[in-house]
Amino acid sequence: MNKQQVKFNAEIENYTRDWTPEKVAAFRSDFLSWYDEEKRTLPWRINQEPYSVWVSEIMLQQTQVATVIPYYERFLEWFPTVEDLAYAPEDKLLKAWEGLGYYSRVRNMQVAARQVVEDFGGEFPTTAEGLKQLKGIGPYTAGAIASISFKEAAPAVDGNVMRVFSRLFGIDEDIAKPSTLKYFDAVVRHVINPERPGDMNQATMDLGSSICTPTKPQCEECPLQSYCLTYQQGTQANYPVKLKKIKVTHKYYLALAKENTEGLFEMIQRPSEGLLANLWTFPLVEVSESEYNTYHNEWQTSESDDTRLQNESLLTKVQAEMPEVVWQKQPVGEITHVFSHLKWHVLIVYGHQRASVIQETNERQLWLAPDRFKELALPKPQEKINQVLKKARYLD
Ligand code: ADE
Repeated sequence: MNKQQVKFNAEIENYTRDWTPEKVAAFRSDFLSWYDEEKRTLPWRINQEPYSVWVSEIMLQQTQVATVIPYYERFLEWFPTVEDLAYAPEDKLLKAWEGLGYYSRVRNMQVAARQVVEDFGGEFPTTAEGLKQLKGIGPYTAGAIASISFKEAAPAVDGNVMRVFSRLFGIDEDIAKPSTLKYFDAVVRHVINPERPGDMNQATMDLGSSICTPTKPQCEECPLQSYCLTYQQGTQANYPVKLKKIKVTHKYYLALAKENTEGLFEMIQRPSEGLLANLWTFPLVEVSESEYNTYHNEWQTSESDDTRLQNESLLTKVQAEMPEVVWQKQPVGEITHVFSHLKWHVLIVYGHQRASVIQETNERQLWLAPDRFKELALPKPQEKINQVLKKARYLD
């Protein structure tokens, strides 16, 4: 087991520590009694055939229950069996889906139907693992079908289930991250009833849509109130945890590896405030995204002969500003570096100075031999740049 797995197991152990077998048994019994009393009467609950369960689950992924019902009924009228769906004409298929959106889902369904007919002898695989082989069936749908149709104790974790379980167990993982799914999967496995796993999954869906709603959950009505950690702590409104994606800004630069006749490189100290304050880098020239990409593409598509670069606009600009340097047309390489909200894209260009230049220096600019770079405070991107130059044998 690697370190990450050990940590994950410890976290699950933490969440489930006081869920003793007695408590789990009581929870199952209370939850299923509630479901037996309160469950919604829905057409896909009339039988547990995998074909119709599958149709309903795909439709319910994108649309509210009330909207799905007439679509579901018509779909099964038009395509009563998996064979009917497998060889249905495309226009009829699309007609059946008209208004539901995401047409790729129904196209995938037809591919999956053919898989069932042609590869599985007309029978759906009977486990969640097996069902995932079918086109368009991911962990959620596989879990739903396996638990409802085949009584496998498999979780079916969607947004509703994450909401209910994050509140029950105080799971504070960010549900916007795909890697968080495994926490819910593990916790649901700890409590799912092996006798009635499909009902337990559907009970969770019903609770999530009627009581444990996104805003203003009706905790006073909830059959799971006495099991709910965040209700007891009064923190249920903080769950689930869904962090906003930080928007990353991209910045594009040329890094000028400028060498003089004595083998010294120009280094510039950054301003005393702001990002990487006072650290030293090669001169960096900020360029637009499109200039950068044009240059980058030419570099990637040209051969090693550097005269083949068609568009030298970027370098022409640099050259015009520094006529004393002979620039190599091809970049030596590229580095990228991510700061928390910022991504730098840096193309490294190399140039050597003509002999006759008088070099200016000032307190924020100096010329230094590569073996003395370590005397300066260099930020990570500059270290990456040095690595690229070393590899290409521009630095000793
Ligand atoms: N949402 C997704 N699947 C569902 C189901 N089987 N019953 C009710 N709501 C659902």
